[in-house]
This record gives sequence, C-alpha cells and structure tokens, in this order.
Amino acid sequence: MSVRLDPLTGVLQGAAVKESRRTLAGLTGYFRDEAARAAMDQDRLAYRVQAYEPKPEGERGAVCCATTFLEPGTVGDEYFLTRGHFHVNEDCSELEVTVSGTGLLVLMTAARRTWTEPMRAGSVHHVPPGTAHRVANTGDAPLVFVSYWPSETGHDYGTIVERGFGARVRRIDGQPAIVPEPD
Ligand code: PA5
Ligand code: NI
Repeated sequence: MSVRLDPLTGVLQGAAVKESRRTLAGLTGYFRDEAARAAMDQDRLAYRVQAYEPKPEGERGAVCCATTFLEPGTVGDEYFLTRGHFHVNEDCSELEVTVSGTGLLVLMTAARRTWTEPMRAGSVHHVPPGTAHRVANTGDAPLVFVSYWPSETGHDYGTIVERGFGARVRRIDGQPAIVPEPD
C-alpha cells in the first residue's frame, strides 16, 4: 500500500486516500452573513480534503495526514473558511504546513481566547492541545496546507456550530481584518 504526497502541489494519492468535498451548502450557519451565503450557488466548492488515515478515527496507534485545498472567495465580506473544530481528545495537538496560497490560521482556547497566525508557503503551525482551529483564505488563489494529527484525536464540530470562534476574518477596505465576535 503506497501513498504519495506531491510536495509542490500537496496532492495526496494512493488507494488509501479518501477525498471529501465541502460546498457552500455544507457551510450553512458558519458565516456571519447567512443570507449572503444562502443567496450564492449552493454547489460552489469551498474546499476539498484528501486524507490518509492509517487507523480509524478515534483509535490510537497512528499519525494521520490530510491536504486541504481551500478556494478563494468571500461570503459577504468574510473570507472562505473551513468549519473549524476542537479535538475530542484534548491532549491531541496538530501541525499545519502550508504548501501554497495565503491565509490566516484562527486558533481559540476553550475560554474563547482567539488569535491568528499568517499562513504562506512553507509556514509551519503548531495547534496546541485544547485549541480549536479554522483556516481562512485571504488570497486570490487556493490555500493549500497539509495537516498532521494523531489517530486518537476525534473531532468536535458541535461546539463551533453553537458558539463560533472569538473572531472572524473579514475583508474591510480591501484588506484582511480580524474582527472580534461576541459570544
Ligand atoms: O485536521 C484538520 O484539522 C484539517 O485536516 C481539517 O479537518 C480540514 O482543514 C478541514 O477543516 P474542518 O474539518 O474543520 O472542516
Ligand atoms: Ni484538527
């Protein structure tokens, strides 16, 4: 069983690689301006993920990796984003390695302290244990990054659906701005 990661494009290939797609329909409720999202083409692709998980989610004993291809675009004035999540197993951290494009990694503690790190080709980001993470594409090209996490991590999307992050990445006067978001 062989898996290949193309270091120039981030493309993951192999029989064990699974690809998933998230359209704007699949991001219902994630943007500040839900009416703007609902008025857009619901089949428009926001991001694709190619994942190689040697063990099933939640089972310990492996390291997983995935490439995310996040499209450029905005909903209202908010840049296209990934849903974001906490890890169920709070001890589990993650690494994000940017392949191409530009954006912001949004990080948030359980206490809602929120900060960002700029992503560009070659940047490596450590997501500390207990820290929710989301990515926003602030550029004009796809933002491509590879994530690495332990197989026992587990993913909690519900907390973000309910409470969101403590800040949003918006285009204001043509520039990315990190705008605090009330709880
Ligand atoms: O492991 C990760 O955190 C990433 O591979 C994400 O799952 C990926 O970027 C897609 O984001 P989300 O799972 O929040 O929709
Ligand atoms: Ni994660």
